[in-house]
Amino acid sequence: MKVEQLFTGCLAEMAYYISDNGEAVVIDPLRETDPYIRMAEADNAKIKYVFLTHFHADFVSGHVDLAKKTGATIVFGPNAEANFDFHQGKDNEDFKVGNITLRLLHTPGHTMESSSYLLIDEKGNTPYIFSGDALFIGDVGRPDLAVKSGSITQNDLAGFLFDSLRNKIMPLPDDIIVYPNHGAGSACGKNMSSETFDTLGNQKKTNYALRADMTKEEFIKEVTTGLKTPPQYFPNNVRMNKGINKEIDKILYKGTTPIDAASFKELSEQKDILVVDTRSKEDFTEDGTIPGAWFIGVDGSFAPWVGALITDINQKIIFIAENGREQEIVTRFSRVGYDNVQGYLIGGIPNWIDHGFETEKIGSISAIEFNKRLKEGTMDAAVDVRKESEYLSEHVIGVDNFPLDFIHQNFAEIDPNKHYFLHCASGYRSLVAASIFKANGVDQVTDVRGGFEDIKETDAPLTEYVCPTTLL
Ligand SMILES: [Fe+2]
Repeated sequence: MKVEQLFTGCLAEMAYYISDNGEAVVIDPLRETDPYIRMAEADNAKIKYVFLTHFHADFVSGHVDLAKKTGATIVFGPNAEANFDFHQGKDNEDFKVGNITLRLLHTPGHTMESSSYLLIDEKGNTPYIFSGDALFIGDVGRPDLAVKSGSITQNDLAGFLFDSLRNKIMPLPDDIIVYPNHGAGSACGKNMSSETFDTLGNQKKTNYALRADMTKEEFIKEVTTGLKTPPQYFPNNVRMNKGINKEIDKILYKGTTPIDAASFKELSEQKDILVVDTRSKEDFTEDGTIPGAWFIGVDGSFAPWVGALITDINQKIIFIAENGREQEIVTRFSRVGYDNVQGYLIGGIPNWIDHGFETEKIGSISAIEFNKRLKEGTMDAAVDVRKESEYLSEHVIGVDNFPLDFIHQNFAEIDPNKHYFLHCASGYRSLVAASIFKANGVDQVTDVRGGFEDIKETDAPLTEYVCPTTLL
């Protein structure tokens, strides 16, 4: 028996590959299909089932493509409704894979179809539970995403989650390993640990939601408190996960079209096309970029930022990339459903410059310079683009909060005639925000390199530190 956890940092997502005796299954696959197919080939195994713990909101799964390519059966839990062929599993239904069994446990709460999969080995032992978004390490799945107006409230869902955890998961042996679908950084929960697995026994001791003496009312109150507005792309991804989407191979073929500099320039000037610069922070600031381009660096939480910031999921996109990473970038756009990528700039910015085309640069200053200007009062406007919870935890006195997450919704507050100095925690989000400021007509934008981490090393005036978890 082989059990592999496949962690994707960008989405804080864990898919699972399990094989035994010539048969394999994948739980909660990402959009791409090749990695799973290659793993099964290496094991000489046939992928028999693609199990989904629920309709994901934070990424588009490739279950339909994977099933089509491998002949596997897609399995969802009770209550699932979708526009493709799948097997609707029942509570306690067993699925044979080689000599092992995966037992579906219906664990509603995060969503109504939410299910966990219990692995039962040849000897009848239960070493693993794949808990989806029912149980995370240190947290549980948020119960507000699957609210249906008029029929089901977040309190109803939280109540179901309480029952699922108490009746289905907590009675399992303490030494069972909990393998969840998400880790720290995912917006599917609010306070997840950075650990990617743990024993159930340890979770019973440390996870607030599994406290033995907790009443249902207390549980509902705690899991529904402190939930943040979900990213705007979540409903789109749920919808896509219930339907049949453009095939990944077609998306990759179109998205990796090489575009010469002159054609790229023409496209970049069209109103309905967005240019995304996916290079490193350093390359972006040193070389500059194409006028109007947004910086969303691939070496960051790329997909969640694409989803949070690009409001039209069908947006036509062309991109600038580090040479050799084009396919990866198109894949990562498609993981959150941005399937309308048209191609990339051949030769990148050096080729653009060789053609004599204009570039645009974002100014940047060090934290020391920022502190100096703060004290001199020589900054027109300084904003901190971190999340509100980070800002409330500790921030520079005299600097306003303007979270990147809600930049479009709040953009009317920005005065295009002012010179803005932007900082975040370490310098990624502030560059994203600075590029969007610039693309929206704010000419004077300066980024603070190293962000709050560097600012804290100076003697800039800070508010008193409040532990972020107490702000939930
Ligand atoms: Fe989820």
